[in-house]
Amino acid sequence: MSGFNGLAVPGPTNMPFAIRQAMDVALEDHRAPDFPEFTLPLLADLKRIFRTTTGQIFVFPSTGTGGWEAAIANSLSPGDHVLTSVFGQFSSLWVDLCRRFGLEVDAVEVPWGEGVPLDVYEQKLRADKTHRIKAVLACHNETATGVTSDIAGVRRILDAVGHPALLMVDGVSSIGALDFRMEAWAVDLAVCGSQKGFMLPAGLAIVGVSEKALAARKTAKLPRCFFDFEDMIRANKDGYFPYTPAATMLRGLRASIDMLLAEGLDEVCARHHRLATGVRKAVDAWGLRLCARHPKWNSDTVSAVVVPDGFDANAVIKTAYRTYNLSLGGGLAKVAGKVFRIGHLGYLNELMVLAAVGGAEMAMLDCGIAIEPGSGVGAAIEHYSKTAKRPAVTKAA
Ligand SMILES: Cc1ncc(COP(=O)(O)O)c(C=O)c1O
Repeated sequence: MSGFNGLAVPGPTNMPFAIRQAMDVALEDHRAPDFPEFTLPLLADLKRIFRTTTGQIFVFPSTGTGGWEAAIANSLSPGDHVLTSVFGQFSSLWVDLCRRFGLEVDAVEVPWGEGVPLDVYEQKLRADKTHRIKAVLACHNETATGVTSDIAGVRRILDAVGHPALLMVDGVSSIGALDFRMEAWAVDLAVCGSQKGFMLPAGLAIVGVSEKALAARKTAKLPRCFFDFEDMIRANKDGYFPYTPAATMLRGLRASIDMLLAEGLDEVCARHHRLATGVRKAVDAWGLRLCARHPKWNSDTVSAVVVPDGFDANAVIKTAYRTYNLSLGGGLAKVAGKVFRIGHLGYLNELMVLAAVGGAEMAMLDCGIAIEPGSGVGAAIEHYSKTAKRPAVTKAA
């Protein structure tokens, strides 16, 4: 099939040419005397992406799942109580990981399409007078349902109640794309992967750790080896790693950080919001709805679109791929067959999003879903055209 594959899944995202080029290098000696000249500024600049000055960022050759494990294993002990909530595939997989590590998990079940239930967290934390709960977990952006939660709100509750639990946040599909403030929200452990906002291939787990969480490792008794912060701290101090780092990926990460900082984090978030709004206008124009049950949950990085009753979202996804060379995200677990997902994060502009919206529209029409041809694309175009930043026209002398 000629033409590019439209990659509209919520990670891996489109890789900018500058990042590809940065990784098209000869393999290098990660113990070379000048390697720290590259790694020390890299680790320092990652803090700017996580928006922390006092925290430390660790980069493991792994994925987001490894980041979850690193966060848990370095800060908790077997039998520790954690409070979390489940409203999608990823929030539920983190619970599974915690249980396999022998933690006592209070996982509040929330309807899929909603996010972290602040009221329930508040009740439970207030009732926990003896501070049995050692960590509060929150999935910032549930990629399976396109739901963003209020992490600042979780921090406000912890502070209002005076609860000392660690705040652990899954930022896999938010950091580098949505507003995320590790320091302002006093997030203790922030987990990310390389294949979403960072626009890289999968292969790195990037974990932000606060001073409080670093101190917690001294008493945490869960087993750890590969993900041990202690080894990372010792080696990273001098710009090295406790084992062979994914150096080529780190070269790509350098380019990614440079791109994010050059655009500006606020501008990156604003761009995602504008592109996402266009997708939401398209969904409205189709007469369909999002899995997110209220606009306050809408995610600016991924939209999960609910197909009408009697239709199979997987057929839409297959048609989009086979007929139009467009990759849409599938529904996972409880929402399998009910939703398709349009990923709109990373290296993206209006035209790329319009291609995804147009492809989804054609695939739905092919599957017999009664939408007006061009309605979604038209609504998105209208939004992008109205909100475009136009360069100032200078008058000819
Ligand atoms: C919100 C969220 N958390 C965790 C993960 C797991 O990350 P990985 O697949 O990189 O292990 C994903 C993957 O898509 C995710 O979207």
